Amino acid sequence: MFLATAPGKVILVGEHAVVYGRPAIAAPVWQTVATATIAPAAPGSGCHIIAPDVGLALRLADAGDDEPLAVVTRLALARLGITRAPDWQITLHSDIPIASGMGSGAALSTALVRAVMLGAGHAAEPAEVSDLVYESERFYHGTPSGIDNTVVAYGMPIWFVKGQPPEPFVPAHPISLAIADSGIRSPTKETVGDVRRAWSEDPARYEDIFDEIGRTVLAARHALEAGDSLELGRVMDANQTLLERLDVSSPVLATLIGAARKAGALGAKLSGGGRGGNMIALVDDRVMRPVCDALAAAGARRVIVTQIGGTQD
Ligand code: MEV
Repeated sequence: MFLATAPGKVILVGEHAVVYGRPAIAAPVWQTVATATIAPAAPGSGCHIIAPDVGLALRLADAGDDEPLAVVTRLALARLGITRAPDWQITLHSDIPIASGMGSGAALSTALVRAVMLGAGHAAEPAEVSDLVYESERFYHGTPSGIDNTVVAYGMPIWFVKGQPPEPFVPAHPISLAIADSGIRSPTKETVGDVRRAWSEDPARYEDIFDEIGRTVLAARHALEAGDSLELGRVMDANQTLLERLDVSSPVLATLIGAARKAGALGAKLSGGGRGGNMIALVDDRVMRPVCDALAAAGARRVIVTQIGGTQD
């Protein structure tokens, strides 16, 4: 029996602009994970993948190329030079909300690739796992920057620029985030597609917004390196304003963001693709309880508290 896990993730700053070459900062969220277990199956039965939480059950040999979990399994086996799929039952579980900006697809694929590699006796390197998972991300996202598969496969906070190796990133002091789920599913593929359409109609306007987002990401990095939470909060708020200009926020997200700020959060913004999904609030630990209560009262379906730069990273 082999078991592998992978975390959810948040984008601290820089989503969407990262697709267009600007930097972004992302961090894993270990409070919510995907797991993959491999158990030997009857000889000759082939490789089966089941995900009981989402009602998925497939036989690898029969699955089409429109099934990302099958695609990523085949890629992992091919990378290892295995041409005949082993007799395995692979079981997937995840408590990461789907289509909510927390990298649920990347985490499932990462856990799956790691389990396959473990099952085949191969010690998987994060870069290798990330490359394979990127292929399934293209299915979920259309034109992904690669940030989700990278942060999930490395399992540590990263400074990310598309096409470059990630820079692991440790803030001067751990920071605490409240992550609130709006309960509205919003596939990243759709928001990324909408931003691309808007950009192709008016590239100059959107390139300017992406540049401004890029500057907020740099400012966030300086604030994290200096341990300046007040400044980081301001930068997150500025990033939210720019995301609104990209039209990827929504009234529900705005309500949660407003509630967090009113209850004492230092800054708050959507995280991931937007429109629905999750928002994040930077919160001093002394006011974490009132901020979480305010988020729940404002309609959050679930609130998770995590630290970036703490011992769990
Ligand atoms: C999704 O977590 C982040 C986006 O920037 C998409 C991407 O980078 O692929 C919205």
